[in-house]
Amino acid sequence: MSISVHSFFHKDTGTASYVVIDASHKRGVIIDSVLDLDIFSGQVGVSIAEQQLDFIKDKNIEIDWILETHAHADHLSAAAYLQTKLGAKTAIGKGIEEVQRNFSHIFTQSMSSVDNEKVFDQLLTDGQMLHFGDSQIQVMATPGHTDDSVSYLIDNHIFVGDTLFMPDSGTARCDFPGGSASKLWASIKRIHALPEDTNIWVCHDYQPNGREVNVQTTVLDSKLNNIHVNPGINEDDYISMRTERDKTLSVPRLIYPSLQVNLWSGALPAKAKNGVQYFSIPLTTNF
Ligand SMILES: [Fe+2]
Repeated sequence: MSISVHSFFHKDTGTASYVVIDASHKRGVIIDSVLDLDIFSGQVGVSIAEQQLDFIKDKNIEIDWILETHAHADHLSAAAYLQTKLGAKTAIGKGIEEVQRNFSHIFTQSMSSVDNEKVFDQLLTDGQMLHFGDSQIQVMATPGHTDDSVSYLIDNHIFVGDTLFMPDSGTARCDFPGGSASKLWASIKRIHALPEDTNIWVCHDYQPNGREVNVQTTVLDSKLNNIHVNPGINEDDYISMRTERDKTLSVPRLIYPSLQVNLWSGALPAKAKNGVQYFSIPLTTNF
């Protein structure tokens, strides 16, 4: 098996999107795709998706799967756009149904109008195996950051979404509806139990202290050096640190546009009666 991993970094949102290739069979998958969004003008773009399409064409690869590690709250998925170009199947963790229930009531699209068979081609469960070329993808449910979070283990590479960040950045927040610091702790321990030379690929890097972008670590480095989960920290310490820290975090800049796209496999909102597409922002008032 000759697996290669190619990361594409979206600077505006600090998102790493991946093309994973089984070169000997000319097949591949895309993990955590991303759209551009200028929130002020409403301009939506496909710069990273186009880079990936050029790359795939250049390598003469067929893409079998467009996978999400979870319904992201900080960037928009390009899955629907890529699917129109590549014809590959889309998939996300089955927990997306819970995330849809938690959020869809605040948007115009309601759960009762959703047919998930049409929105995502597959909803994935723990232990499920997917295939591309001669390669296998093992789905690991890794809830905590969100209910639908899954990681994808391909050979000695695992794509963890926001279940872990780089060791110097720690772990993701758990305060969205359905999030849980104790579940995240357990999910991280599961990843840290993999062989120590397993490569961990993260979905975000925010370049702490201005360092270069880095989106790849190993199980060994992560379990020894992650600033939030390492041999000096127990579960109780972690849960109280995570809970206190989450109280200080502000709402992600792109949460509302992101959810309105990512709950529905990257589909942009339907046109309003005037033919224009809109994102909605639910208001709260303090008077
Ligand atoms: Fe996330």
